[in-house]
Amino acid sequence: MVSIWPINTKRIAGEVEVGGCSVTAIAQNYGTPIFVLDEGDFKARISNWQSEFKAAFNENAGEIFYAAKSFISVEIAKIINHSGIGLDVCTGGELAVARAANFPGERIEMHGNNKSEKEIEAAIDYRVGVIVLDSLQEIERVARIAHGKNRVQKVVIRLNPGVEAHTHEYIATAHEDVKFGFSIATGGAWDALLSVVKHESLQLIGVHCHIGSQIFATDAYQASAIRLLEFLARYKAEFGTELENLNVGGGIGIAYTEEDTPMSAKAFLATINNVIVKESARIGISVPKISIEPGRALVGPSMITLYTVGTTKEVQLEDGATRLYVSVDGGMSDNIRTSLYGAVYTAEIANRVSTAQLRNCRIVGKHCETGDIVISEIELPSDISPGDLLAVPATGAYGRSMASNYNHVPRPGVISVAAGAARTIIRSETEIDLLALDVDEAPKKLEKLPNRESGARK
Ligand code: LLP
Repeated sequence: MVSIWPINTKRIAGEVEVGGCSVTAIAQNYGTPIFVLDEGDFKARISNWQSEFKAAFNENAGEIFYAAKSFISVEIAKIINHSGIGLDVCTGGELAVARAANFPGERIEMHGNNKSEKEIEAAIDYRVGVIVLDSLQEIERVARIAHGKNRVQKVVIRLNPGVEAHTHEYIATAHEDVKFGFSIATGGAWDALLSVVKHESLQLIGVHCHIGSQIFATDAYQASAIRLLEFLARYKAEFGTELENLNVGGGIGIAYTEEDTPMSAKAFLATINNVIVKESARIGISVPKISIEPGRALVGPSMITLYTVGTTKEVQLEDGATRLYVSVDGGMSDNIRTSLYGAVYTAEIANRVSTAQLRNCRIVGKHCETGDIVISEIELPSDISPGDLLAVPATGAYGRSMASNYNHVPRPGVISVAAGAARTIIRSETEIDLLALDVDEAPKKLEKLPNRESGARK
């Protein structure tokens, strides 16, 4: 069974400690809600993926790119840089974080299905290692901008292999009816390739796909790798040379509760390697350099969210039973995943051990919406009360990164804990932050400006 708590989590005298810091001390010093990163767990996870990656792929190992969208901050980018793996960014904002961390451009991969001209320019100016191309218009844009700067930009094309990944429909990305990539089946992928190779300012170095997120089975990865390899074989047949790189994307699932059974890095990588090696031999191409882009699998399990219980309320259900609604001081503004994808989390009272009988509870937030649910159904000690600290594990990925200010709730900060010490890596917002963007501007007459990208924020 996979532990759903960061590796440096323990109970000492009944109280949860992460990275040697007690939850009470954390709550007293930083307030709640707060995201707590077990830095040792995060680093160990990265290093495990690195060593398993090298062991599985050997000379075929390309790059691991950490998917910044799962969670990024300047300190996280520094940790990623120090570990030696690459960084996948998909907006100018994520690139700005990388720049602020002095992340080397050559280890950055730039994604996005609708990169603005400004974002493309910023990526080329920062000399990012590779840009992932996602539409015919974008191929022309990147080619023109690189040409204008007298540069040859390395690119890969994002292919849509047309496979169904078993996950929530909003986070599956490689069936036909999606906005991402060029379809292999309908010929769009080959047209894209032909349009890339026409440009001297673009150097096509390989192909990419990403089939979706929070995936537990390897079958869809295998099917998509095979389709990408067939595409590489067609390239070899028509051009007489080979494309060197194949990026199979991210999406490896993690355990949110003890019922979840994710693949280990070792098992996942071995399966991918086997299918690629076998299939390359069968269709007569060299084994490409294989890259991956995990986000969730690296940071998801390393973080917990700490909330304080504010109120509890017993509610009568239709069948005569009751449910205890436990309201915490955050909710859908720091974890939208439950209401958006029906994600299932678990939680524990973290400041004490209770021997009270378990009872059915629903953990809800403080927002003005019925759907503001953190955990729909959970058994917790019936004496759970205001002031208790509730810890929710596995919130590192797509928690803080998807946080909002709904209801003008300040977004929680992130602290990193290790060896009994804590440091802030993103500070919690305050009411001053919430008001910082409000302006009382005198109305002004608008003139059209020459040569501006219409509608695009600069
Ligand atoms: N590469 C690409 C091109 C992606 O679009 C993504 C995620 C990843 C890599 C990393 O996927 P990961 O290994 O983290 O699963 N908000 C959703 C997940 C959306 C994922 C978007 N793309 C959630 O909370 O589950």
